[in-house]
Amino acid sequence: MAQTQDIKYSFGLWTVGWSATDPFGPSTRPELDPAESVRKLADLGAWGFTFHDDDVFAFGSDDTERQRCIDSVKKAASDTGMVCEMVTTNTFSHPVFKDGAFTSNNRGVRRFGLRKVLRNVDLAADMGASTFVMWGGREGTEYDNSKDLNAAHARYAEGIDTVAAYIKDRGYDLKIALEPKPNEPRGDIFLPTIGHAIALIDSLDNGDIVGVNPETGHEQMAGLNYTHGLALALHLGKLFHIDLNGQHGPRYDQDLVFGHGDLLSAFFTVDMLENGFPNGGPRYEGPRHFDYKPSRTEYLDGVWESAKANMETYSMLAAKSAEYRADAEVQEAFKHAGIIELGEPTLDADENFDTFLADRSAYEDFDVEGAATRDYGLVRLHQLALKHLIG
Ligand code: GCO
Ligand code: MN
Ligand code: MN
Ligand code: MN
Repeated sequence: MAQTQDIKYSFGLWTVGWSATDPFGPSTRPELDPAESVRKLADLGAWGFTFHDDDVFAFGSDDTERQRCIDSVKKAASDTGMVCEMVTTNTFSHPVFKDGAFTSNNRGVRRFGLRKVLRNVDLAADMGASTFVMWGGREGTEYDNSKDLNAAHARYAEGIDTVAAYIKDRGYDLKIALEPKPNEPRGDIFLPTIGHAIALIDSLDNGDIVGVNPETGHEQMAGLNYTHGLALALHLGKLFHIDLNGQHGPRYDQDLVFGHGDLLSAFFTVDMLENGFPNGGPRYEGPRHFDYKPSRTEYLDGVWESAKANMETYSMLAAKSAEYRADAEVQEAFKHAGIIELGEPTLDADENFDTFLADRSAYEDFDVEGAATRDYGLVRLHQLALKHLIG
């Protein structure tokens, strides 16, 4: 079990850097210098940082200006020991991308978007990042007749596969993580959930280096269970990165501090990430990355307070979940519930259809009534979790 002080916390520079413009009003805070944000996050105890190209240098910057901005962030990173663990591309803000980048109906925009992404893959490798996130915020529609929906998915797959092939061609030590989101800014975004993304990845020629970057709030906006989604991605070897934050159910993308939305769900997310599955199995070894927004009501003190709150909440949940797992009553309740039994394969290792069909205890003599009246004790187990969390 991880010591909470060893946890590798990481932040997107666009999170603390959000100046709080929303559809109803302008900024409530000044722009931050990204290099200063790296230093400040280091002071607060973060381990790493991530960014979009446009977070560090403005869209359309010339080469000299672009390099000056990159060097300033690099210097902050080397002065503080902060790790640039992930880089991502902004293919959603500039009006040229209003109908998408990889799935725009305009082929010229698709080629431009792909070039912007490939240029940023070079930068990711140069920064020493290990993950390249792709969030296709504008890949989607407001109206179902806006696109040939088969061609759109084909172009999306083509774009992702081209980026993956480029990474391999250049010999970069980078993996791609697709970030699902059901809607906002598009009415409907393609690859709306973890499951959709993994299904498309399965069709790619270079899908071996493509996985997912699930965000807490995005799965919850779709009414889904984030922890279950992470578990499926882990099971399939596709959990390459995570975006932690808070959300209250299906509504606009709230991007609250981690744990400030569905706290119980956050507890079980942390329990799974820090303590693993009860029967062992794949673990997520990557950074605990926050993608949240300091609320628009906050000024600069509030920005840094909210950044701290993410790490503090995660660390508190990590400590509580360690106690929960170490509790003998909880372990006993796991056994009583059959959670350990679920780790046993349903068929014997040497079983074939003949022996299975001949096993009367599996069917003819199975005590159906007895099994139907079993008490799993799951409410008691959940109450034990709640006691550890808030008792
Ligand atoms: C959002 C998304 C973005 C992405 C980011 C990285 O809802 O706004 O979560 O913040 O994570 O663009 O690709
Ligand atoms: Mn979000
Ligand atoms: Mn968001
Ligand atoms: Mn995100």
